[in-house]
Amino acid sequence: MEIVRLGLLLLHLLGFSVLLGGLISQARQQNKQVTGLVRGGAGLAVVTGLALVGVIEANGGAVDTAKIGVKLGISVVILALAVRTSRRDKISTGLWIILLALSIGDVSVALFWSPAHGSY
Ligand code: HEM
Repeated sequence: MEIVRLGLLLLHLLGFSVLLGGLISQARQQNKQVTGLVRGGAGLAVVTGLALVGVIEANGGAVDTAKIGVKLGISVVILALAVRTSRRDKISTGLWIILLALSIGDVSVALFWSPAHGSY
């Protein structure tokens, strides 16, 4: 079961990397877009996040429900915005900044709110 959790965590982090990388790589572009990769990365982070909760709870572990609830809320907003705008040729810089800020917000919640490996 531990290998399943770690495999899901790897996919979870890859999904997040694709989302954030896809957004940041457009920083200097005039025409910003929600690419299929950005949308897919957001979807992968949500699906693997939910699966991680299932695997951790099935193993008798406990997740911080408030933290997960906040992450899920932010992630659903990111995914909804990405799905709604991914067919457009161009998105506004304002929407790009919102997507970037929400993505960084999500990883900040993951890391600063009860870190999985305790405090340093
Ligand atoms: C773009 C959105 C997301 C980002 C950037 C993100 C980021 C991260 C990061 C960096 C970790 C590793 C650090 C840690 O364990 O706290 C993590 C773990 C985790 N995430 Fe997310 N996450 C996102 C969305 C979600 C969602 C939507 C859920 C669930 C509904 C979720 C559930 C989890 C769980 C359960 C872990 C712990 C894994 C473990 O301890 O094995 N995440 N996430």
